Amino acid sequence: MKNDANLFDTMFTMRAMRRLKPDPVPEELVEQILRAGQAAPNGGNAQNWGFIVVKDPNVKKQIQHFYAKAYDDMVGPHYQSIIDSMEEGAEKDKFVRQISATKHLTDHYHEAPVMIVACLNVGAAGANAGSGASIYPAVQNMLLAARALGLGATLTSRHMIFGQEVDAALGLPDDIKSFAILPIGYPEGNFGPVGRGPLEEIVYKDQWGASYFT
Ligand SMILES: Cc1cc2nc3c(=O)[nH]c(=O)nc-3n(C[C@H](O)[C@H](O)[C@H](O)COP(=O)(O)O)c2cc1C
Repeated sequence: MKNDANLFDTMFTMRAMRRLKPDPVPEELVEQILRAGQAAPNGGNAQNWGFIVVKDPNVKKQIQHFYAKAYDDMVGPHYQSIIDSMEEGAEKDKFVRQISATKHLTDHYHEAPVMIVACLNVGAAGANAGSGASIYPAVQNMLLAARALGLGATLTSRHMIFGQEVDAALGLPDDIKSFAILPIGYPEGNFGPVGRGPLEEIVYKDQWGASYFT
């Protein structure tokens, strides 16, 4: 199993890979990704999580129906209004490219050879503001593992707009909620560096606003 990627290279090139090939993902790679997820920190090591590996075309299509509906009803018009308000230029072009990839993933979501759905037992009280803290580290570990194995993936959570419907399609009991869906496959494009701003703009010394890098 190819598993020799440097951790920092992996992190710095782990972009959202929204264009995926339909080629199947070997089962041992799926298991390696799942093992990485299970190794993640979680509150009190309670491990109140569960992961569904979805390969059934019918189930994937049901999920995609709601993922696309959320785009058509809410997310797409929101992005369009942002695009309309932007001035012509490199920044707008970059955003339009990102939205084009987002739309591509929306239309082809169900064609990802494998999806991993990260779920958490939120108990009878339901999810609260801290719930995600015990499942998103596992999600990040799985994204890193996929990248290290040469697989593309994207953290998606838009399905939660229709969370009840999607969770029903996945057969989740009432106290279990899905928090993220990772469509995974071999990427169509190349991995490249993540685009983030200068560290100087987001890191402060002792107090908010005080420059850390002098
Ligand atoms: C909580 C969360 C939810 C996200 N949901 C979606 C989603 O539903 N669909 C999608 O295409 N990308 C989704 N993303 C991916 C982000 O858009 C992506 O991480 C960000 O644009 C940076 O992309 P990059 O790593 O390729 O630079 C989500 C990311 C996070 C952290």
